[in-house]
Amino acid sequence: MLKKIEAIIREDKLGEVKDALNEIGIKGMNVLEIRGHGRQGGITLAGRSGTYQVDMLPKIQINIILSEHNLDETIATIVKAGRTGDAGDGLIFVYPVEEAVRIRTGERGHDAVMYPGDIDERKHKGAA
Ligand SMILES: Nc1ncnc2c1ncn2[C@@H]1O[C@H](COP(=O)(O)OP(=O)(O)OP(=O)(O)O)[C@@H](O)[C@H]1O
Ligand SMILES: [Mg+2]
Repeated sequence: MLKKIEAIIREDKLGEVKDALNEIGIKGMNVLEIRGHGRQGGITLAGRSGTYQVDMLPKIQINIILSEHNLDETIATIVKAGRTGDAGDGLIFVYPVEEAVRIRTGERGHDAVMYPGDIDERKHKGAA
């Protein structure tokens, strides 16, 4: 079963989260610059002419398609690397994925998102 992780994190946590994911063998991903707000509805900033409300804050969205059996480890890694403990650390959403197709080879499903040295190859090496 393929899943999609959509992780919304702080902009300044992208480097740490990327490094941590790379360390556990998560290779394929895409990253978007987004804007949004959670339950605080933005933040109040103090400017020269008084305070003003910024309702849509810049965030980073990381999308990863992966096998279900790697979900827990990957989520734990993002939480550990992305957390400051303050409001605005972000959210992680998980979706089911219908299908994946690697255009060059026609590979489908799990095979389409396998990479040399990835999280699954590492596990097999570790077990051998
Ligand atoms: N219900 C939602 N649906 C889609 N995206 C959301 C939703 N809530 C928040 N987001 C996105 O997640 C980002 C991070 O939200 P944020 O970390 O402030 O969550 P929160 O629920 O308010 O938790 P906290 O109390 O830790 O701030 C938002 O900027 C927005 O991009
Ligand atoms: Mg919030």
